[in-house]
Amino acid sequence: MFSEFEGARSHDRKADLATRICSALRVHAAIEEEIFYPAYLEATQDTEIHHEAEIEHEGAKRLIDEIESTGPDDDHFDARISVLQEMIRHHVKEEERSGGMFGKARASDMDLRALGRQLEERKLELIGESAEEGGMERRMPPSGRSRGARRELRARSS
Ligand SMILES: [Fe+2]
Repeated sequence: MFSEFEGARSHDRKADLATRICSALRVHAAIEEEIFYPAYLEATQDTEIHHEAEIEHEGAKRLIDEIESTGPDDDHFDARISVLQEMIRHHVKEEERSGGMFGKARASDMDLRALGRQLEERKLELIGESAEEGGMERRMPPSGRSRGARRELRARSS
């Protein structure tokens, strides 16, 4: 979606992509914070990596707030999206590098399969909620739109 944003010219298209980027990232951050990060901390007692990841989430969410409360006519809009992309890239790299959070989680006695199921379940729940709150809903036909929107979002975020 970030690369689509880079190629987008019209404000409508940019606004639409930004909305989708922000809501996908919000859901992703929320499920990690609610489920994965606490489980990680409990299993590994690794406050260093855990806290750093939390702070990175906070930074990204602050930027997401700003993106959501402005629009493509704001002359810092594109810059915010591109800095957000860099933050996410850095964050994912930290999580995935060897000795990073995911590696340590795999090496611990965490039940990653069960956690994976919990994460997936919560993700679908949150996607359903955000589809009902609007955003997606407005563009869907009136009948059965929240189910449709949910399916659409699910397909996109998986
Ligand atoms: Fe994360």
